[in-house]
Amino acid sequence: MSDFVLKVNGAHLHVSAPAEESLLSVLRDRLNLTGTKYGCGEGQCAACTVLLDGEPARSCLTPVSAAAKANITTVEGLEQDAKLSPVQQAFVDEGAFQCGYCTSGMVLCATALLRETPHPTQEQIVTYMDGNLCRCGTYPRIVAAVQRASQSPAKAGGQ
Ligand code: FES
Ligand code: FES
Repeated sequence: MSDFVLKVNGAHLHVSAPAEESLLSVLRDRLNLTGTKYGCGEGQCAACTVLLDGEPARSCLTPVSAAAKANITTVEGLEQDAKLSPVQQAFVDEGAFQCGYCTSGMVLCATALLRETPHPTQEQIVTYMDGNLCRCGTYPRIVAAVQRASQSPAKAGGQ
């Protein structure tokens, strides 16, 4: 076991874990941050997406030791002052989920996309989020939610 101080959603969290344990397991099983989902466990679905220094990363493939110096953002860290982020709100407004299992990964990827490209075309959204799988097939609503979020007046700084 090794000791780590992880920067998660702005807080410094102490955790002991084997260095090779996945960030996904550490977040869910040791830090009780269960918004990050375990889908395939092998890098194929993006349900486990978190942001590392603002960039989407598959936490199932990321050893906790590799994330120790990064600013980690999980879905729990997106709301501010008890208010959903514009992307989260847009997913609610568009009903962009059924079972919701893919949703946190989708929301985090969309958040990263809109920080990089504030007004993406439909094609840019589809291309950027191509690796995020939704077994419920809510893709059209997900794209609509990202488009809605891109038009949100509240989005500045708080995707
Ligand atoms: S659980 Fe990580 S990519 Fe599927
Ligand atoms: S809403 Fe069920 S997997 Fe996407």
